[in-house]
Amino acid sequence: MSIAKVGVVGCGLMGSGIAEVTARSGYATVVREVSPELLAKGRGRIEKSAAGAVERGKLPAADREAALGRLRFTTALEDLADCDIVIEAATENPVLKKELFASLDRICKPGAILASNTSSIPIIELAAATKRPELVVGLHFFNPVPVMKLVEVVRTIRVADASVAAARAFAESLGKRPIIAKDRAGFVVNVLLVPYLLDAVRLLEQGVASKEDIDEGMRLGCGHPMGPLQLLDFVGIDTTYFIAEIMFEEFKDSRYAAPTLLRQMTVAGLHGRKSGRGFYDYGS
Ligand code: 3HC
Repeated sequence: MSIAKVGVVGCGLMGSGIAEVTARSGYATVVREVSPELLAKGRGRIEKSAAGAVERGKLPAADREAALGRLRFTTALEDLADCDIVIEAATENPVLKKELFASLDRICKPGAILASNTSSIPIIELAAATKRPELVVGLHFFNPVPVMKLVEVVRTIRVADASVAAARAFAESLGKRPIIAKDRAGFVVNVLLVPYLLDAVRLLEQGVASKEDIDEGMRLGCGHPMGPLQLLDFVGIDTTYFIAEIMFEEFKDSRYAAPTLLRQMTVAGLHGRKSGRGFYDYGS
């Protein structure tokens, strides 16, 4: 299975990061969003991030231009037809993702790998929406994608060994360190991370400490680069809420039950950095 052309579905926080990394790694990359407005926003995010990499000395300016030149933006899913691998990074909504996988299966050429960046939905549910479950894998990236080294490669009970090997080699070709995980909601990292984040919200709800002190506790006490409430703002309050709901549905374990405050912030549009306000104010 040789991969030369990559499709990315969704150009939000994760999709734009994934597209930036694939283009920077030399792959022709087609990015699809549902509207020209969201496409323009995602494109702006990629351009800004790549410019930041140049400023930090991580990327030669000429390589930035070459990477941006490898990107093509579209609102038509059909434009992904000749991609060798498509990475779906749409909203964390199982119904939407299943519809997307059914459509991608119809549109994409035979032999193309269909991957999902879902952080919580079992991959087999998406594979079952296609007629090519042997080619469907999980490829779970971490935010910010250009910086975080990890990719979880998720192996379902129907996937072919060759597809897992190709996905793993592809992740390595992006400069990432893949780990292989079984197809269970949350895989490895979110099974550990999500209860921790939810517990931080519970601590705040219970008035055990201020948000600043909860964050400082984990930064200074455990050496985390961000405290849990800062990380929630960074990942997205709504995204984390949807992940928790899916994991709770899967395990029926109170560790994954979303605290009221998280649900209310989701409903109220306090989604964290991307919306300008979450636990903290970002002034936009
Ligand atoms: N391209 C390449 N490198 C970049 C870059 C870019 N666009 N932007 C930044 N970098 C590099 C910097 O040069 C720097 O590298 P260095 O250490 O070699 O000097 C490094 O990345 C850190 O960048 P900064 O110094 O600008 O920023 P900070 O030191 O403030 O770190 C952070 C920012 C990396 C976001 C750090 O706070 C962090 O690691 N936070 C935790 C992030 C995290 O936990 N992410 C996972 C979330 S969970 C998830 O995504 C899964 C989902 O399913 C929930």
